[in-house]
Amino acid sequence: LRVTASQELGQKIPDTLFGIFFEEINHAGAGGLWAELVSNRGFEAGGPNTPSNINPWSIIGNESFISVSTDRTSCFERNKVALRMEVFCDSKGSIVCPPNGVGIYNPGYWGMNIEQGKTYKVILHVRSSESVNISVSLTSSDGLQKLASTNRIAAASDVSNWTKMEFLLQSEGTNSNSRLQLTTNKKGVIWFDQVSVMPLDTYKGHGFRKELASMLEDLKPRYMRFPGGCFVEGEWLRNAFRWRATIGSWEERPGHFGDVWMYWTDDGLGYFEFLQLAEDLGAFPIWVINNGISHNDEVDTTDISPFVQEILNGIEFARGSPNSTWGSARAAMGHPEPFQLNYVAIGNEDCGKKFYQGNYLKFYCAIKATYPDINIISNCDGSSRQLDHRADLYDFHIYTSARNLFSMNTQFDHTSRTGPKVFVSEYAVTGSDAGTGSLLAALAEAGFLIGLERNSDVVQMASYAPLFVNANDRRWNPDAIVFNSWQQYGTPSYWVQHFFKESSGATLHPTTIQANASNSLVASAITWQSSVDNSEYLKIKIVNFGNDIVNLKISVAGLQNAVNSVGSTKTVLTSSNLMDENSFEEPNKVMPVQTSLPNAGAQMDVVISPYSVTSFDLSL
Ligand code: AHR
Repeated sequence: LRVTASQELGQKIPDTLFGIFFEEINHAGAGGLWAELVSNRGFEAGGPNTPSNINPWSIIGNESFISVSTDRTSCFERNKVALRMEVFCDSKGSIVCPPNGVGIYNPGYWGMNIEQGKTYKVILHVRSSESVNISVSLTSSDGLQKLASTNRIAAASDVSNWTKMEFLLQSEGTNSNSRLQLTTNKKGVIWFDQVSVMPLDTYKGHGFRKELASMLEDLKPRYMRFPGGCFVEGEWLRNAFRWRATIGSWEERPGHFGDVWMYWTDDGLGYFEFLQLAEDLGAFPIWVINNGISHNDEVDTTDISPFVQEILNGIEFARGSPNSTWGSARAAMGHPEPFQLNYVAIGNEDCGKKFYQGNYLKFYCAIKATYPDINIISNCDGSSRQLDHRADLYDFHIYTSARNLFSMNTQFDHTSRTGPKVFVSEYAVTGSDAGTGSLLAALAEAGFLIGLERNSDVVQMASYAPLFVNANDRRWNPDAIVFNSWQQYGTPSYWVQHFFKESSGATLHPTTIQANASNSLVASAITWQSSVDNSEYLKIKIVNFGNDIVNLKISVAGLQNAVNSVGSTKTVLTSSNLMDENSFEEPNKVMPVQTSLPNAGAQMDVVISPYSVTSFDLSL
C-alpha cells in the first residue's frame, strides 16, 4: 500500500463529512434519547376528543373503589383532555380503601429506570372540589417496592382551580422496571393532567438521556439531520411532524401519532430540543421539512403557500433575532442566541411524487429569497443524472446487501464534479446480511465510507440510518445504538463510525494498493490534528472484505515529520464469526481493539486480518 502524504497532493475533506441522522423511529426519542419517563403524560394519546387513549396508564384498585375516565376540562388550551378519577372508598366508613390506596400508575416506556441516590423531578397538575391527599411514588412494577415517595395534602381552596405540584424525589433503591403511582385513600373526585417525571441529571442539563447522548458525542458528529425520515412525511399529512406544535411549554404541546412507525409521541423532544441537541453535540442542524407531501396524500402546488410560510416561520424561530416574532418564541424558551441553521432538506424520499417538483421550487425560492446562505437539499438523486432544478446538495439513500454496499465504494468515482454536492443522508446494510447489527454489515459499510472519504470532493455529508432502537419496539433493523430503559450498546455499525470521526476537516492523501487481494481491500489515508494536544496523526484505514489474511507493506512518502512509534497505535474491528453481533449480554463482543504499534514508521510490514477494518494511527 503506497501512501503519498505530501501536503501538495493532499485534499481537504469537508468539515461536515460525517454526521448523524436522528429519526423518531423505534422509540428513538420518546422513550429513548428524551429522558422523560412518563409515557402519554397528558392522557392525550387518543387525540383531542374523549374518551381518549390513556395507555399505558392503568388503574390501581377495582371498580368498587375507583373509576377513571377522560374529559375535556384541562386548563391547557391546546391539550384539553384531562383524567377524571373518582374514588368511592375512604380511610374509614362503609367502603374502606385497600392499605396502599387506589389510583393510577404509569410504567413509562417498558419500565422506568429509577436509580438509587438519583433525583427525579416530578410535576403534575391537579384539580378537585374537595381537599386532596395524594401519595406520589416511584415503585417496582408490582407496586410493592417503594423507591421514593411523598405525600401531598392540599385544602379544597388550593386545588379548586388547576394547580401545578412540583417536587423532587430522591430514590432509595434501583429498579429498571419501575413505575410512577398516584394514589389516595380519600373519597372524592380528582382530575389529573400533564404529569412528568424527569431525572435531574441529563446531558448538558437539556433533558437528553445522558448515556445515549454521550454515545452520540463520542462520534464527534459534524451535523445532525432530524427529525426523520418517513417520520417527517407521515402516512397521512395530518400525522406529519409540525414544528409549531412541538415548541413552547411541554404542557401545551398536543403530541402526535407518528403513523409510519405507529406510536404516539408527546413531542417533549420537539423542534427546539432538536436544535439544542445539535448545538450541544457541536453539530450543524439539518432540518428535514415536510413539503406538503406524505406517503399517501399531497398538497397541490397551487395551495402550498401556507406550508411554505410555516417553514419560513420555523427558520425564523431557529435563527431570527430575539426581537423577531418567532425568534422571540425561541428566546422565551431560554435560547436568545440564534441557532446555526444553515441546511434545510425539502422533503424526504419524495422525488418523483406528483407535486414534489412544484412544491420544491416554491420552498426553494422562498427560503433563498430570505436566507440566501441556507443550503437547500433536494430529494432527487443527481448522481445518476443532472438535476433539472436548483439545489446545493441532493439526498442519496442506500439500503442494500453487504456485498453490494462494499462494491459501492467506487459509486461516486465518476459522479459529475460540477453542480450540487452529494448528501448520503441514509446508508446501511439491511436484510439477512445485517441481522440486528452484524460485523459483516459493518465491514461493508466501512468499505463504502472509505469510498465516500476518497470522493469527498463531491460527497459532502454522510450518515448511517437509523441511529437508535429501543429493543422493545424494533420497527427497523439494524440500527446503530440499541437500548432499553437502562442499558445501551453500539452495534458493529456504530463502532465503524468511530474509525471516521477524525475525517471531517482532515486532509485526504492519495493511496494505491498493489496486492493480489486488492479486490477485497480498500484503503484511505488522512492526516489530522488533535484538538486536545495539537499533535498530528496520519491515519491509514484498511478494510479487508475477504477471507484471506493479507500481508502488506505500507510505504508512506512525502511526510514532513518522522513517525513517532510512541503514541502510534493500531485499531482493529473483527470477530471470529461474520454474523457476530453485540447484545445486552455481550455488549462488547464486536468492538474495536486498540494496541500500540512499536514498528510504526514510514515503511511497515503489517498483517491484515480476514474480514476486518484496521486503522494505523501514526503519530507525527
Ligand atoms: O431509516 C429508516 C427509513 O428509511 C427512513 O425513515 C426513510 O427515509 C428511509 O426509507
